[in-house]
Amino acid sequence: MTLLTDETFGELEAIAARYPEPRSGLLPMLHLVQSVEGRITPEGIEACAEILGISAAEVSGVATFYTMYKRKPVGDYLVGVCTNTLCAVMGGDAIFERLKDHLDVGNDETTADGKITLEHVECNAACDYAPVMMVNWEFMDNMTPTSAVRLVDDLREGKEVTSTRGPRLCTWKEAERVLAGFPDGRVDEGPGAGAASLVGLNLARQNSWSAPSGGGAERKDKSIESGTAETKGGAVAQADTSRAETETEQEEGKKSD
Ligand code: FES
Repeated sequence: MTLLTDETFGELEAIAARYPEPRSGLLPMLHLVQSVEGRITPEGIEACAEILGISAAEVSGVATFYTMYKRKPVGDYLVGVCTNTLCAVMGGDAIFERLKDHLDVGNDETTADGKITLEHVECNAACDYAPVMMVNWEFMDNMTPTSAVRLVDDLREGKEVTSTRGPRLCTWKEAERVLAGFPDGRVDEGPGAGAASLVGLNLARQNSWSAPSGGGAERKDKSIESGTAETKGGAVAQADTSRAETETEQEEGKKSD
């Protein structure tokens, strides 16, 4: 039975109307379908096709191409573990194995209570906080097998959990509604960018560096002549040292876990 009501149809039409070319709204429309149906259903595909005046096959082609669109029901919390190279060697593989055991599910499977869907994900461009996990697309940084188990247990028990760089976590359906373009008022919660991501920016500010506006070769020669390059080398060494210190601290944290 479809859960798509007249109100949802109205919202799907409103999304399409945001764009000069209505079919540009297909991606957020599919997120809205997921927020209501818990997955991409045949009825959701038909609704999008009808509103956009395209075929169901065209909608289906998009829905099956992107991994954020799910054909099977998703639990209340979609828990992703990055197992791409850097996260894997920093502990992502161990986290994923521990969670599979703890939750008694495999990749892309949901716990019997319908609370957690576990999946391994590719690089989230968050390698400076490896190993990272995502819950409903929000970052959980510097994870360990122990903290990962604590995280899913808290979610299953209904405790309030906050992303390490974002807002309080909501359910997957609620997050899907945000991705469809209907804000939940939490956009300003959390720090956004963390210290590790800002090391380069802070170094640039301390040294009054700025991006060249053009004429790169000439500018490079001038910086070498003025000794800026030497300063830069010293700063890079400083950045390496601070990164190494951070990693050592993380490693010590993991051991104490
Ligand atoms: S490898 Fe995991 S975020 Fe890049």
